[in-house]
Amino acid sequence: MSIHADQTDFHLSNPFMSLVLSLHSMVDGSVTPLMRYMGARLPTGDFHTQPLDDHEQQGSFDLPDTLLPFACPTGGHGDNRPTQLTLLGGDGNSCTRLSYRSHAVYAGRKSLAGLPATYVEAPEEAETLEFLLVDELRNAEVRLRYTLFAHRAALAVSLEIANKGQEPLILTEAASLCLSLPGPYEMIHLYGAWGRERWVERTPPMHGERAIGSKRGASSHEHNPFVCLVRPDTTEFSGEAWGINLVYSGSFTLRVHQDAYDQTRLVGGLACDGFRWTLSPGESFQTPEAVLVYSDRGLNGMSQSFQSLYRERLCRGLWRDRERPVLLNNWEATYFDFNEEKLLGIAKAAKALGVELFVLDDGWFGRRDSDNCSLGDWTPDLRKLPGGLSSLSRKLHELGLMFGLWFEPEMISPDSDLYRLHPDWCLHAPGRHRTTSRNQLILDMSRPQVQDYVTETLSRQLAEGSIDYVKWDMNRNFTEIGSLELEPSRQGELPHRYILGVYRVMEALTARHPQVLFEGCSGGGGRFDPGILYYMPQIWASDNSDAVERLKIQYGTSFPYPPSAISAHVSAIPNHQVRRKTGLDIRGHVAMSGVFGYELDLSAMSLEEQTRVAAQIALYKEIRPIIQHGTFTRLLSPFEGNLCAWQFTGQDHVLVFVFQVLQHAAKLFPSVKLHDLPQGIYQDMDNGLRHDSRFLERVGLTLDFGAAVPAQGDGDFSSRLIRLTRCQE
Ligand code: GLA
Repeated sequence: MSIHADQTDFHLSNPFMSLVLSLHSMVDGSVTPLMRYMGARLPTGDFHTQPLDDHEQQGSFDLPDTLLPFACPTGGHGDNRPTQLTLLGGDGNSCTRLSYRSHAVYAGRKSLAGLPATYVEAPEEAETLEFLLVDELRNAEVRLRYTLFAHRAALAVSLEIANKGQEPLILTEAASLCLSLPGPYEMIHLYGAWGRERWVERTPPMHGERAIGSKRGASSHEHNPFVCLVRPDTTEFSGEAWGINLVYSGSFTLRVHQDAYDQTRLVGGLACDGFRWTLSPGESFQTPEAVLVYSDRGLNGMSQSFQSLYRERLCRGLWRDRERPVLLNNWEATYFDFNEEKLLGIAKAAKALGVELFVLDDGWFGRRDSDNCSLGDWTPDLRKLPGGLSSLSRKLHELGLMFGLWFEPEMISPDSDLYRLHPDWCLHAPGRHRTTSRNQLILDMSRPQVQDYVTETLSRQLAEGSIDYVKWDMNRNFTEIGSLELEPSRQGELPHRYILGVYRVMEALTARHPQVLFEGCSGGGGRFDPGILYYMPQIWASDNSDAVERLKIQYGTSFPYPPSAISAHVSAIPNHQVRRKTGLDIRGHVAMSGVFGYELDLSAMSLEEQTRVAAQIALYKEIRPIIQHGTFTRLLSPFEGNLCAWQFTGQDHVLVFVFQVLQHAAKLFPSVKLHDLPQGIYQDMDNGLRHDSRFLERVGLTLDFGAAVPAQGDGDFSSRLIRLTRCQE
């Protein structure tokens, strides 16, 4: 890895990629960094970029501001593409002009105050180029930081804006990154809804703007803060891809703009709609981080870079590298209808089958027999748990199970003691109706006293109940976005201040209770993002646990996120979300492809089913290290056909999961080609057959789903797990 800087050119490179920036003099005398190249590695050493002619480019009459590939484009200057930073001063106009003042190159990277971010464990793991850019008229200093990881095809980018003057400045736009690339690109993003999160959509290039985002206060079910730009010929296995992911859990915007000259600009960060942040003299504002990954090994190459970065240098704490426990969650087994005896009955059956962690979901606190009350009153309901949490906890621990608990810390029910005491603690706009969703309001997490209440209340319950695991839920989005705490001119700061408050509480709780495994959740997968992964190494991917539906959800989720983060459960049939009946094998295989668990009453299953569950759990424990730490490769997309397949590659073991949605008569057996295997001879651990790695990659595994003799075949919703061991190099 190296960062080569001379008078005007900067070349950041590692074995996988290069970023080239150069300084450009504008007609007004300012000097601005341009992004000249971002892609496959270029040779290092002395080289100089050609100066760009900003006046007569391509014979155009356009102004330079509409043409140049600015590294940090600013507002109010005639650049008609999406811009990254706009600062208003006392004159009220949006004219923002940054000029290069100096730069620094240093080993390692800086952490971002109050915000989640990727990190290094030793300075030699990364190098940072930091530009100091100045708007003299506004007395503003902007630090634009690019951190290149030494052994990863990944860059971390962010901006810090400081007010060095005597007058307040107003930020109306402060995005995390701007990526400039020549040429048109197809765009891939992950869209969805509750129960249908992170489906993959690929759109053709378009002149003008394609934008995704969320104004919901959470990164959302509807759009993930992830976008990928690709060439038309890029596939899962080959071609170029530029992936961008925001390390942020709140409202965001990602905009891809293609101008009339086919230049592409991508700007991403905090949602700009309604954003207005007052920067008082002496204060600074740090944007969230954006992670940029480059791949010339197709989409799988991009995903693998994101996944290993997140597994190793975004997730933190004891549970980052530990094998995650197989859990049993009581939600779909009992909903709100349980008592200690019933829970212990399920827990005993679970323990006997190999489960390691029992999770008590919603309904254990206040007087919550349905979703219409008690959020905020985090004390155990003694009608259901007469001995409180400590008694249940002791009994579960005596059984040899860990004990996990559900919270929805950011919420308040109008019917709660907390609301009766503090009716002003929720987000609301004076004089307006307070809109409930799932019968609840949102706590104003921007307020320090609310943050402290949540931290102390949860902390007490975690200690008193000897809790080993927390499921942190968040079940509704913003309405009436107002805060009592903020003066009128600062109301536009609320969505970001809310998330900063949530992060402050998450930081405090994870630091105080380092042994606790935290799992994120938001009405299923409504806040599945890198910001949450910094505090919680796993996230519930979707409330939809139907095996067929989960193929698409987990396939899409894996574009940026590792399987070790994707929480997945085997649930009952008919499935509670779509009423589909699928076999135990496919439900097991789909859930085993992530962090594995069950969400049904194991004590109510037949003996035969219980035996199969015990075998599934034993199998998962055997393959868990490869699932959680191996290399994940998507082989066949559920969005493109009836088959779906993915591969986990470990040192000497390979796992191939193949799923067939519908059975058809008179079809040839499908074959599935494996990818990027370490060379050698592999033996199938179940039938003993041996195959050369080149055979497995070029010819593939032929799978017999029994279609030739339908009456004897598997029928619909079938699956296979093929386990291969490398026995010879
Ligand atoms: C959300 C979660 C579910 C469950 C319920 C409980 O919907 O996604 O898993 O915890 O809340 O109310």
